[in-house]
Amino acid sequence: MKLLMVCLGNICRSPMAEGALRARLEASRLAGRVEVDSAGTGGWHAGEAPDRRAIACARGHGVDISGQRARQLRPTDFDDFDWLLCADENNLRDVVQRAPAGRRDRVVLLLDWAGTQPSGEIPDPYTGGPEDFQQVWRLVDSAAQAVVARLCAM
Ligand code: 4NP
Repeated sequence: MKLLMVCLGNICRSPMAEGALRARLEASRLAGRVEVDSAGTGGWHAGEAPDRRAIACARGHGVDISGQRARQLRPTDFDDFDWLLCADENNLRDVVQRAPAGRRDRVVLLLDWAGTQPSGEIPDPYTGGPEDFQQVWRLVDSAAQAVVARLCAM
């Protein structure tokens, strides 16, 4: 199973989602059996480490995401990943538009797919403060726990 977390810049939400899910998977019996990556619909931050506020927030929860590097979504992602898990409706729309016919049903909202929040979005914290990053962590970590439970049940 290969999962791709997608947001706009790939420096805040999807790196946090990747970090939370990696940590939850490592602590589960699925360790080593699920691959996780992240990407942005935009490429402005390609090659950069996550936003320092995202790194600090994740570190506060015991997860190191400082080694991640941003990249833009690429056409091969639709073949390489089983599911593309989007942070918000804008990301979902952008990714669905780029998806080849036949792959569109593999592009979903992360919180919806996890089952933690039907049709739920992860708000962009980029122009916000530390509490906005904490809120993102709560959302992505609860989703990560639910995803692990879902995959364990498969
Ligand atoms: P992300 O947040 O999509 O969660 O990584 C953003 C990062 C950068 C920008 C917007 C959102 N930006 O406009 O550069």
